[in-house]
Amino acid sequence: MSERPFVLGVLVSGSGTNLQAILDAIEAGTLQAKVGVVVSNVATAKALDRAKAARIPAIVVDHKAFSSREAFDAAVVEVLQAHRVDCVVLAGFMRIVTSTILDAFPNRVVNVHPALLPAFPGVRAQRQALDYGVSISGCTVHFVDAGTDTGPIIAQSPVPVLDSDDEASLTARILKKEHELLPIVLQWLVEGRVVVEQPEGGRPRTRIRLGP
Ligand code: GAR
Repeated sequence: MSERPFVLGVLVSGSGTNLQAILDAIEAGTLQAKVGVVVSNVATAKALDRAKAARIPAIVVDHKAFSSREAFDAAVVEVLQAHRVDCVVLAGFMRIVTSTILDAFPNRVVNVHPALLPAFPGVRAQRQALDYGVSISGCTVHFVDAGTDTGPIIAQSPVPVLDSDDEASLTARILKKEHELLPIVLQWLVEGRVVVEQPEGGRPRTRIRLGP
């Protein structure tokens, strides 16, 4: 009998190019996982079309239909568990997640963020980077914790910020790096290479186990 695949649940709100990068990596065989379900809080998200084109269940859970973040998250957890998800990927999911999701998937919720954290957390990170005047930005894949973009960093990838950049050009350059980095990190998770360590009195941090 074949081994059960590593099942990803991908949460989205928008265009879903990171979801597409995941699907393409699976198709190419560089990511040995399966996307079990895509959940969007936005009914018109293009990411849903990408999921449908790949014959993946595409579910809308509209946050506006819930009276609290926790109630919304509980509905999302129900969908993820019904699809037997091993790991939750926030791929352009523009909602803060609560402990309702984090407790259901401990150290199993990852986010991709368009800046080199801890710089520029939250929304419009690329705009923040331009406004600050940094010459290097990039993207970060990290575990999600209760804060906003504060969880243990798994991997980062830098890009230059050019004098000629506007928000759109910097966003595009960073997005390209996200598409490379996210599937690589997910494959590390599949292979069980990502170890979370808790140094005494320090922040939790990750270590990537090398080797075969
Ligand atoms: C990506 O740049 C992702 O890093 C960002 O939204 C974009 C989604 O693009 N996420 C955040 O800013 C979360 N704070 P996509 O829908 O094409 O993957």
